[in-house]
Amino acid sequence: MTLRLGDIAPDFEANTTQGSIKFHEWLGDSWGLLFSHPADFTPVCTTELGKTALLSGEFQKRNVKVLAVSVDDIDSHNRWIPDINEVNGTEVNFPIIADEGRKVAELYDMIHPNASEKATVRSVFVIGPDKKVKLTLTYPASTGRNFYEILRVIDSLQLTADYSVATPADWKDGEDVIVVPAISTEDAKKKFSKGVTEVKSYLRYTPQPNK
Ligand code: BEZ
Repeated sequence: MTLRLGDIAPDFEANTTQGSIKFHEWLGDSWGLLFSHPADFTPVCTTELGKTALLSGEFQKRNVKVLAVSVDDIDSHNRWIPDINEVNGTEVNFPIIADEGRKVAELYDMIHPNASEKATVRSVFVIGPDKKVKLTLTYPASTGRNFYEILRVIDSLQLTADYSVATPADWKDGEDVIVVPAISTEDAKKKFSKGVTEVKSYLRYTPQPNK
């Protein structure tokens, strides 16, 4: 099934390295990061899961629960985790789904047969506390993802969920943001006490309101 932004993230029950998980129940009120990797004991995946573990404090700070998935089995995941820990100087502290039956892979359309018949591609889903899909990314097996970019998008998603702003190209937490087009400059000046700079009638900046 192709998932689109705003769709409810499909619920599932899965066997993971931290026991059985019912996805929606496990998420609770948190945000979620569900991401697939092609296979255990592969080099790029080893760096990706290590990087995610190294950034676990950053995900926690943002109230994001992390869940990885591949079609390998639990024994394989459990044999691979010590390698990830050793190579990256970290400890994998998030669950990895053993999706041998491809239940999750199919629900989230993570197998792209023209890329690989068997393995999941590098899919990313960010899910909001309302269980709706907020971000989808798809990378090929040959390209490791940028987990700082995923954190950056989460910062933007969480900010723009609470304020009438959008974030410009390459924006990073703490930088000025854009007033959404639906608000007139006159109203924006009343709403954003830190000030509004009008570059064009349709491009107005304000300092990040929650800083
Ligand atoms: C990797 O994780 O290194 C990888 C996995 C599948 C194909 C190519 C690379």
